[in-house]
Amino acid sequence: MSFPTQRMRRLRQSASVRRLVQESAVRANDLICPLFVSSDPDVDRPLGSIPGVRLLSGAPLEREVRMLAGAGLPAVLLFCVVDDGRKDATGSLACSAAGPVQQAIGRIKDAVPGMVVIADLCLCEYTADGHCGLLRTGAIDNDATLAVLQQAAVSLALAGADVIAPSGMMDGVVQALRTALDAAGHTRVLIMSYSAKFASGLYGPFKDATRSAPAESHHATHQLDIPNSRQALEEIRLDIEEGADMIIVKPALGYLDIVALARQRFGVPIAAYNVSGEYNMVQALAGGNTEYQTRLMFETLNCIKRAGADMIITYFAADAARALA
Ligand code: PBG
Ligand code: ZN
Repeated sequence: MSFPTQRMRRLRQSASVRRLVQESAVRANDLICPLFVSSDPDVDRPLGSIPGVRLLSGAPLEREVRMLAGAGLPAVLLFCVVDDGRKDATGSLACSAAGPVQQAIGRIKDAVPGMVVIADLCLCEYTADGHCGLLRTGAIDNDATLAVLQQAAVSLALAGADVIAPSGMMDGVVQALRTALDAAGHTRVLIMSYSAKFASGLYGPFKDATRSAPAESHHATHQLDIPNSRQALEEIRLDIEEGADMIIVKPALGYLDIVALARQRFGVPIAAYNVSGEYNMVQALAGGNTEYQTRLMFETLNCIKRAGADMIITYFAADAARALA
């Protein structure tokens, strides 16, 4: 069948018909809101490098999480900003019950017990040199790093984390965390692995915000090279074999081919991380025009869903959930 019998525009003739034939959708249930928590008490101030995103702790953090739950969001992803004075060579604060993320988890679970709390797990926010792993003789020591991450994961689970999200791209991290969590009795805690994390320049605003940019970067030795998709799929396959419950592709927009390929090949839930640089690009283009920004926001989120992502980690989570309500 072809023109003039076949007319594709019939499917787009009215808003109702368009709604009826819509193939994918963004729902508040799909969105994960990143939160930045401080090692200082009762903080509430702008992060600076990511417009509209705040650094929180204590009562202001509880207020924010109540607001997010009210907007219908199911999950938050926690990062921290640590005072330089509390960082050390091994990132020991990552493993402490007094750590900012552990403390924040307690506050969040008190305020909204049903909120799914995902704890990002990497050493770069805690190490004095800002590296994602332990540096030994000028290189990141993969296996020594795993031992620290195991302790940190158990500490986060004990604090009440529902999900641990290792983001440092260390080999064998999922197996190491699953083993450590199970041995400590945390068999219910999920692992959401940043399986396909690329060595992207789009993390710039996040790195500024968390002051975790190392003087000399080793990222290219653990994060994926931009041109590689087969390696990304191997990383995902291995993480699933090691026991990952969910996987993350990061960044999102230039990486939707990876999301689509992973969707075809694997059955696990897939999250795409719409990172800080992608968020800032939309903000910059919108230039303060809120109507235009909302349009760009939904275009972004819809494209990520169309590619096959189940979940989207986005700094737009609260805005989008409110707009969808
Ligand atoms: C690592 C981590 C980073 C981001 C999330 N987790 C920084 C990095 O890997 O260099 C970036 C997120 C963003 O840019 O929004 N802890
Ligand atoms: Zn890191």
